[in-house]
Amino acid sequence: MIGATGTIGRATVRALLRHGHEVVCFVRPKAAKDPAMKDPAAKDRAADDSTRRFLGATVRTGEVTDPTSLARDGLRGEHFDALVSCLASRTGTPKDAWAIDHQAQRHALNAVKAAGATHAVLLSAICVQKPLLAFQHAKLAFEKELMASGLTWSIVRATAFFKSLSGQIDRVKKGKPFLVFGDGTLTACKPISDDDLGDFIAGCLNEPMRHHRILPIGGPGEAITPQQQGEALFQMLGQPPRFKRVPVALLDVIVAVLSTFGRVEPKLAEKAELARIGRYYATESMLVWDAAAGRYDAAATPSHGTQTLLDHYRGLLSGAVKNERGEHAVF
Ligand SMILES: NC(=O)c1ccc[n+]([C@@H]2O[C@H](COP(=O)([O-])OP(=O)(O)OC[C@H]3O[C@@H](n4cnc5c(N)ncnc54)[C@H](OP(=O)(O)O)[C@@H]3O)[C@@H](O)[C@H]2O)c1
Repeated sequence: MIGATGTIGRATVRALLRHGHEVVCFVRPKAAKDPAMKDPAAKDRAADDSTRRFLGATVRTGEVTDPTSLARDGLRGEHFDALVSCLASRTGTPKDAWAIDHQAQRHALNAVKAAGATHAVLLSAICVQKPLLAFQHAKLAFEKELMASGLTWSIVRATAFFKSLSGQIDRVKKGKPFLVFGDGTLTACKPISDDDLGDFIAGCLNEPMRHHRILPIGGPGEAITPQQQGEALFQMLGQPPRFKRVPVALLDVIVAVLSTFGRVEPKLAEKAELARIGRYYATESMLVWDAAAGRYDAAATPSHGTQTLLDHYRGLLSGAVKNERGEHAVF
């Protein structure tokens, strides 16, 4: 498993173990030092990585960007049945996206093939169906290589995660308005919880209907717009709804200015790409795209699981749950 320390990676490790698989997580050395990597049940920190445990799985450390490290430190000449990847660039910048979402995935695929694996499950994103951003092109390029790899493959194109839709809870609790782009109904999504998505990804290994398939997947229930998310939140807090409506044209100006200055200053070019990512999510739904009809189709977007975004909001408000956003999460 690669990408095991991410939001969905952690949920997928838990699900793989629940499904009865033996799991080896290949993580970077810095991640292995994270206290969250320690199994609360394991009091002794062993010096040898191979005996380290993460949520009950074996942890090995090395560089996923380096084929030698993958073979030497990760696979160690042993046989593996499958690769499960929740790896993803943490920044979304073009350089990082091509290095991680494409090149590192490709190294991992080649390494597990050499170790005897016959199946690979990839967590991708539903937004690659309408690719406008560098990270989407990088993901698509690897999807293509995986499909041509000769292995049994499953590509999970997930809709929006709960963490990406929960960022405004604190500001609303402080009495600030809920921010929406346009009238708040420009986009919709069928959010899926970390554990429901982890369960779906783990299920790809044993469920033949999910083999050799691109699998768009959302959570249970109807699609929800940002306006509806805000209204639900105010209702739960017992406050009258207050929205601040941001025109999309403002994002266009920011993208244009950063792109212009980005031609001479690489740091601003990266910021321009992040602004383009923001604009994309402000205007594109995370639902199956019906190219013939030229619209997003909530009914055609499959659902999995039982946990809803509104349950998650209730849990966050009561303190019963926390978002696993990670250190550098941008999405
Ligand atoms: N957010 C959404 O709403 C949404 C919706 C649909 C699909 N998606 C897609 O879902 C995927 C996973 O998302 P997530 O939120 O679970 O990701 P995440 O929390 O950012 O986790 C990324 C994982 O990749 C690893 N990684 C990143 N850069 C690395 C590097 N240079 N070397 C080694 N490992 C590296 C991270 O390891 P470290 O812990 O060591 O950094 C971590 O395990 C992404 O492809 C995203 O595009 C997201």
